[in-house]
Amino acid sequence: MATPQSGIFALGCSYHCYLEFDRTSTTSSADLVAAVCNLEVPRTTPSGANLVTGFRPSLWRQVEPDGVPHELEDFAEDLSGSDGYYMPATQRDLWVWVSAASYSDAFTLGRLVIEQLKKVASCVEDIFGWSHAQSRDLTGFIDGTANPNLLEAPNVAIIPNGSTGAGGSSLLFQRWRHRLEEFDQLSEKEQESVIGRTKREGDEFEDDDLPADSHVARTTLIEGERELPIFRRNSAYGTPTENGTVFIGFSSDVTRFTKMLERMAGKQDGIRDALTRYTDALSGSYYFIPSNESIRKFADRVEFLT
Ligand code: HEM
Repeated sequence: MATPQSGIFALGCSYHCYLEFDRTSTTSSADLVAAVCNLEVPRTTPSGANLVTGFRPSLWRQVEPDGVPHELEDFAEDLSGSDGYYMPATQRDLWVWVSAASYSDAFTLGRLVIEQLKKVASCVEDIFGWSHAQSRDLTGFIDGTANPNLLEAPNVAIIPNGSTGAGGSSLLFQRWRHRLEEFDQLSEKEQESVIGRTKREGDEFEDDDLPADSHVARTTLIEGERELPIFRRNSAYGTPTENGTVFIGFSSDVTRFTKMLERMAGKQDGIRDALTRYTDALSGSYYFIPSNESIRKFADRVEFLT
């Protein structure tokens, strides 16, 4: 049975280091994958940190041609919506997520990864995030209320056995910079209409009261009678003057993300997510998150993983 990278589901880690890399011009896809799968980092219980690694879909496909779901492509083009609105494509080769219970553990492991990969890849983006005020986004709203619980999350996030890429996942990674001074000008009621939930408790609206352009209305996907969920692990990032949300979404089916993003941008029906009037997407990439078994396959020195 293919098993997922455990850090996807590790809760209680308040500090997050997100790294994006491009391989150097002389490094092949196979060399990058081998270097990442052979990272000499502690993956043991006393280490106190989690590591999740993801790859540009087209790059992983080169090393494992039948290993990536065919719908999962690179985020190669900006996603255009209504009124000239767009979300930028900033696809990179490699994504690394370190999460830990302390800032120093996340920082130290992040640096170790950069150091060990320096011959094959350059770190082109590093963001430090934290779990803010018990899972509140910096807008003040609870983020993750509609997430599946941990009994359900693997069914939502992980590609099932028997399917291409089993045990793996599709990741959407986006950095959003907030314009909090503008959002904070709104009354609480207006803010709730933007998100589509109450601010204090995170309660749902009655269907008739949910504004069509609210964030919840734009990101709820219904197929027949069924809702199509994703598993989100967002965090806050930044400083008092420049800050926002790191969006981390895992799904067994990447098309859910594309549909949600298109709906947020108002691509088909011109209804743009009200939240996008107060926060700007600065980056956007898709990554394939291989299973533990796939990583072990490319790790020629497996003693580091045992
Ligand atoms: C600045 C970026 C974002 C912020 C601050 C944000 C914040 C929130 C908040 C506060 C909620 C309501 C509570 C909850 O259920 O978690 C929510 C719901 C949700 N968001 Fe976002 N979000 C952002 C971007 C995105 C993106 C890019 C996607 C998908 C591509 C997305 C997908 C969802 C989904 C699926 C829900 C649950 C909707 C439901 O109730 O069924 N979000 N988000």
